[in-house]
Amino acid sequence: MTVRLVDLRGQDSRIWLEPALDVYVTAMSYPDGTQAHRAPLWREHITRPGWRAVGAIAHVTPREAAAPWAIARRLNAPVARADDEILVGIAYGYRGARDQWWNQQLRHGLRHAGAPGDYIERVAADYFELTELHVHPSAQGAGIGGHLLTRLLADRPEASVLLSTPENPAGPNRAWSLYRRMGFADVLRNFTFAGDPRPFAFLGRPLPLLSAPEPARRR
Ligand SMILES: CC(C)(COP(=O)(O)OP(=O)(O)OC[C@H]1O[C@@H](n2cnc3c(N)ncnc32)[C@H](O)[C@@H]1OP(=O)(O)O)[C@@H](O)C(=O)NCCC(=O)NCCS
Repeated sequence: MTVRLVDLRGQDSRIWLEPALDVYVTAMSYPDGTQAHRAPLWREHITRPGWRAVGAIAHVTPREAAAPWAIARRLNAPVARADDEILVGIAYGYRGARDQWWNQQLRHGLRHAGAPGDYIERVAADYFELTELHVHPSAQGAGIGGHLLTRLLADRPEASVLLSTPENPAGPNRAWSLYRRMGFADVLRNFTFAGDPRPFAFLGRPLPLLSAPEPARRR
């Protein structure tokens, strides 16, 4: 499978948004139908200051492109160059800001954990929020996640990048392995967002990223 990365533009979202939501729902093992609930939120995110998105596009055979599993992820021009290109990965984020729910949850969690006010201000004042990073299961483990992240974070003006990810008591999964390898450290652990009983971790690292990830591995 040949994979290339492409910057996704907000104005082309009618082409890539549905395939990207399909990658997200499959990668996260969410029930089919979650796409429709998330679509308005992802569209609203596109309008936020500093929004940026990167896609990983795979070239597949015409027969594969016509298969049911690929149809939901097929891309049209101008995002795709040909009919046999499908989306296999998506990463996006935007500049964090005080009026955002996620920022308020982070501040609340840090306060609750006893962090001093000036520390909270330093952490939560100037960062890029890595909102989504997903690679379709058929393409995971080949280094695509690291390449998406590196491209997304290149030349960002913010002082740091922050993300939240589910805690994984079973041990490091692909997401945790990737974040640790890319230098993400704990900001806050075992936080429960309002409305979601699962514990999450906030992780972060300073920007810029100085080292590139390993080249994509053969599987
Ligand atoms: C997390 C994710 C984006 C990473 O993308 P990817 O292309 O699979 O990433 P990589 O190929 O770089 O692999 C990531 C790490 O997982 C490790 N890994 C590979 N197979 C693994 C397995 N079966 N179990 C655990 N770790 C594994 C790799 O060795 C790599 O670790 P390293 O960076 O220390 O070498 C992708 O796996 C994914 O979408 N997962 C499901 C959704 C998700 O968790 N998204 C993040 C939510 S915050």
